[in-house]
Amino acid sequence: MVSQGHPRQGSDWVAKIPEDVIETVRTATNIADVVGQYVQLKKSGKNLFGLCPFHEERTPSFSVSEDKQIFHCFSCGRGGNVFKFLMELEHVSFPEAVVKVADFSHVDLASEYRQESTGPAVDSKTGQLLALHEQASKLYHHILVNTEMGQPALDYLHDRGLTDETIETYQLGFAPGQRLLKPFFEQRQSDYQLLRQTGLFIENTDGELRDRFTERVMFPLRNASGHVAAFSGRLLKTAPDQPKYLNSPETSLFNKSRLLFNFDLARPAIRQAGEVTLFEGYMDVISATQAGVLNGIASMGTSLTTEQIYAIERTTDRLNVCYDGDEPGQRAIDRALRLLGEHSHLQLRVIQLPEGEDPDEYRKAHGDEAFRQMLETAKEPPLQFQLRYLRRSQALNTDSERLAYVNQVMPLLAQVTEPVELDLYLNQLTTELGIDKAALLAQLKQVQRDSAAQQERQRPAQQQQPAPSEPVMTVHQQQRPLNRLERAERSLLYRCLHDRNVWTRVSDVPNFSFVHEDYQVIYTLAQGYFQTHQDYQAAQFTDFVQEDRLQQMVIDLETTNMAAAVTPREIDDYLAVIMDQAPVDAQLRQKKQQLAEAARLGDADQQRQLVVEIVQLERQRQANKPV
Ligand code: CTP
Ligand code: MN
Repeated sequence: MVSQGHPRQGSDWVAKIPEDVIETVRTATNIADVVGQYVQLKKSGKNLFGLCPFHEERTPSFSVSEDKQIFHCFSCGRGGNVFKFLMELEHVSFPEAVVKVADFSHVDLASEYRQESTGPAVDSKTGQLLALHEQASKLYHHILVNTEMGQPALDYLHDRGLTDETIETYQLGFAPGQRLLKPFFEQRQSDYQLLRQTGLFIENTDGELRDRFTERVMFPLRNASGHVAAFSGRLLKTAPDQPKYLNSPETSLFNKSRLLFNFDLARPAIRQAGEVTLFEGYMDVISATQAGVLNGIASMGTSLTTEQIYAIERTTDRLNVCYDGDEPGQRAIDRALRLLGEHSHLQLRVIQLPEGEDPDEYRKAHGDEAFRQMLETAKEPPLQFQLRYLRRSQALNTDSERLAYVNQVMPLLAQVTEPVELDLYLNQLTTELGIDKAALLAQLKQVQRDSAAQQERQRPAQQQQPAPSEPVMTVHQQQRPLNRLERAERSLLYRCLHDRNVWTRVSDVPNFSFVHEDYQVIYTLAQGYFQTHQDYQAAQFTDFVQEDRLQQMVIDLETTNMAAAVTPREIDDYLAVIMDQAPVDAQLRQKKQQLAEAARLGDADQQRQLVVEIVQLERQRQANKPV
């Protein structure tokens, strides 16, 4: 059934999630597992590191602490608990993030905490455009599975071996004639300007909208957050004058060089398998899913882009290219391998299909089990593919043809570091070409010497790059060196939060307050927090703190390097610095106000007097600072 569309009015009608429920969700979850769905994390010391999902980077500055259940990026400064991570990444509200995490950790949540749809907030234009896509998707799907109009398309999909479950999973649909979406949205009084921007319509010269997709089986294209951002429609009956697949045009939601088909659904499986399989077509991916291979994705019919590679690279280390077994497929593999080799550190494998078959056809012809086996057994290293690829496009009848071939092969062989593997290839060539192995080896040595010399020449440029996989502290941390006072405040606040004895000690100091307002606010909030919480947990406290900037400060605090044990002396030192500084600062503020007042009144004597005092105070203040 097509839902008749509850107007979604933000989140105010959803029951507020009580704190103990949030707590249950939090404790049932390891932040590393959730973040791990999006970011490939590697253990280094106590923490996990990876490429920050919030900005482009080549060296990891993003860390996750399992102890503290928080994430933090040294480079962009973002940080927080598991809810914050999803809020930032998926652009959802706090309650929506809690629901998502609950689902991830299989915590049962009462339905009153859920919104009707877990779509994005509808107040933004993006949200509204996504909502229209969501509605269109539901309608297309409804037509396919529940109506007479959709029956031929449903038969077609069944005939192609798809089950109802798969059709449901991918929300496949059918777009019949021209009069579907337009009247549907008109009846809902959707905004004309907004409709134009969906790309779901074609506009004539009078600005009149008509359905773009007609007589097509509809594949919703979901973005990385799982929201329908575009469609691809396949002609039910292919016709020579029309493209077999028609995609939505590029819109503010849909950038075809970015989107990877099925990436949202495949991500957990990719993480679990430690590898991703890249197919050529949507049908191949869907077919694979039905065979139980869940880590498949596809690019948008165009060749792979560096943006897509980047998205893949931050999720896994290993990629299998499984394209069609025909000539265009082979050319596409060659192109993809070159691009991937140049732009990624991914470990690559080619899954070679029999001549002329595509993965979907293979599954249909040989069954799920054979399909799964083929994916494993037909895996080969890129070099193996490249040698065959070179070989098949050449005639090797004359000496000069053979020589030309050897010249193309040698640079590839020069990259092989395994002696045994190299020997196998050389033997293969010897038999294939009837050239003496010693001669081949001599030529290989020559190529290796040449390329070593070339690398030597290029070295200075390469050396400037930072060593990979080491977390780098960049801008954010260096931006603001802390002075002695602020260091003391930070350390003391950290100790207060983490140690009840320190907390008591500091609370007993009469008239104590932090000099910087933010620290004082956090300290005051902590007083409230400790009334209802026994132990301090940063991941929990950040929710309590609520305000974004203060949350960041709490996370920042957690990333300070503090010795495990605290001494009374250490606390006294901090207190001394802070207490000493506080009055000076207060006096300075007062004198400066008086100076402004004196200037306004034109009292020159008073001004002179005040300036001297201010200079003295500034000196005193300076003395408290680090050398
Ligand atoms: N494609 C496209 N436009 C076309 C043909 C293909 O955008 N006119 C893209 C689609 O993303 C498609 C992919 O290229 O999924 C692979 O094309 P092809 O091998 O022709 O399609 P199949 O996946 O084999 O589709 P089907 O099995 O439905 O014929
Ligand atoms: Mn196909």
